[in-house]
Amino acid sequence: MAGLFPHIYDTAMKPLEKMRFEKIRAGLVRKAQGKVLEIGFGTGANFRYYQNVERVDAIEPNPAMGHQAVKRIKKLRIPMYLYQAKAEQLPFVDNSFDSVVATLVFCTIPDPELALQEIRRVSKPGAKFLLFEHVKMDQKMMGKTQEALTPIWKKLCDGCHLNRDTLGLVKQSGWDIQKVTSHYDGLFLTIECQNPRVF
Ligand SMILES: C[S@@+](CC[C@H](N)C(=O)[O-])C[C@H]1O[C@@H](n2cnc3c(N)ncnc32)[C@H](O)[C@@H]1O
Repeated sequence: MAGLFPHIYDTAMKPLEKMRFEKIRAGLVRKAQGKVLEIGFGTGANFRYYQNVERVDAIEPNPAMGHQAVKRIKKLRIPMYLYQAKAEQLPFVDNSFDSVVATLVFCTIPDPELALQEIRRVSKPGAKFLLFEHVKMDQKMMGKTQEALTPIWKKLCDGCHLNRDTLGLVKQSGWDIQKVTSHYDGLFLTIECQNPRVF
């Protein structure tokens, strides 16, 4: 099942990508600059949108996802380095990155608080953090439905939580939130934030 997941993921995402995700990803990922870290790159759906960056270091814990991504990387001109690693334990020294990109990944990370601490540790002061995530919706009925579905959804979808309050977690972890854009009535959010500069 684990080996099949990357193929199922790419197939399931195709209609969504065509509808709106491509545009959202492109708009967000193009804001990355300098030395970039991508968290949980999956099958590499964001890779083609990087422009004018110095290099991209991208981590992903699931080697089966990584194999799909390697095919995509071959078509790119940007220096790109892939690592098998988890967001909760990043193999980089402090203050390494100018931008961090995470798309559709905070729903799945087992310890999102620890991952957010790690991302701040490896980000330079003033670094950008760019996220596109599905989150628990504000509408009460929808939120309750997401809570109810999460236990079975997690089993079917590789640990994905429908009920994650990723915006709340990012705020709590000390990032300066600069812009939040809602998509599909708040089911998906793009979140742009900055690592505070310490004076
Ligand atoms: C829904 S996929 C999204 C992949 C890709 N970011 C995208 O936008 O298509 C979620 C990804 O998170 C990865 N993941 C799971 N646990 C993780 C962790 N602890 N740290 C980093 N990535 C993780 C999964 O292996 C999977 O590739």
